[in-house]
Amino acid sequence: MAAFGTVFMPEMSIAEYQDGQWHSPQISTANSLSLHPGAHALHYASTCFEGLKAFKHADGSVHIFRLDQNIKRMRQSSKLLALPEIDTTLLEHMIVDIVKHFKNEVPNPPGSMYIRPTHIGTEPAIGKAASPATQSLLYVLLSPVGDYFAGGTRPLKLLIETDGMRCAPHMGMIKSGGNYASALNPIMQARAQYDADQVLFCPNGDVQETGAANFLLIDGDEIITKDLDSSFLHGITRDSILTLAKDMGMKVSERALSVDELLDRAQKPATEAALSGTAAVLTPVGSLIHNEQTITIGSGEEGPKTQLLRRALNEIQWGERADSFGWLTAV
Ligand code: COI
Repeated sequence: MAAFGTVFMPEMSIAEYQDGQWHSPQISTANSLSLHPGAHALHYASTCFEGLKAFKHADGSVHIFRLDQNIKRMRQSSKLLALPEIDTTLLEHMIVDIVKHFKNEVPNPPGSMYIRPTHIGTEPAIGKAASPATQSLLYVLLSPVGDYFAGGTRPLKLLIETDGMRCAPHMGMIKSGGNYASALNPIMQARAQYDADQVLFCPNGDVQETGAANFLLIDGDEIITKDLDSSFLHGITRDSILTLAKDMGMKVSERALSVDELLDRAQKPATEAALSGTAAVLTPVGSLIHNEQTITIGSGEEGPKTQLLRRALNEIQWGERADSFGWLTAV
């Protein structure tokens, strides 16, 4: 199968913001974009995006997972980047319409249609380093996907990084390309030096998240994960997993977790850890590298709680379990 996110549907939904208003969205070719080389986003990174998925059920119907929450987060990212305000109904229609357009192309589970709404400041104004773009484009790309991590669902190895940061602390909750670019060099180094899959950013010993997914520690019946602040992405999969865990009677502790506590708990036999995200779903973490040492988490294999939680999430997404939280939108 092609690498995650490298195959696109040939058309996208696109809308322009100009003269103080959004213009009607169009369905247009998805293989090129006409942009002035001086566009604000290309110089001053006025750009944000979302990642959500549509799933096919056994009866052929197609459902988008947590559409409302992704739209809400995209509106917030746009606001925090001083991009034009996104109209909720406009974006909802754009997403639903393009998914409907390619309904027959949505893969069967475990595959899905990854949906990538993107908002970019397009005003050609390189003098506007200290003021926002007044023109923008909003578009929704579709990409049929399978597993995000090469090799499927396997226990990952994370390098603990206590010196560097994933991104500027006040930017972490914004889903913007700059944050991902900022994490790239540490990730490349961790791969080259330690054969690590990802970096777990823990500035000043505070366990935060990896470059592209949130981190959850599962110790017996308790899930521990950092409480929401502006320094990291407020994952919608994170929220879904925590909701499912509470529903199963697990204890959910959203609080600060230090590297010391993580390493201490990691060595207990019943401890598990996982990464959550739209792309990552819930991927087990098998080991951590810290101060040149490898620390195995629990058994080092995927643990039963991780499996149980991922199965519960997948069963809702795939229509095999009641959607009791109202997370699906039929298209
Ligand atoms: C997602 O999980 O949707 C993301 O945006 C992560 C991305 C690196 C694929």
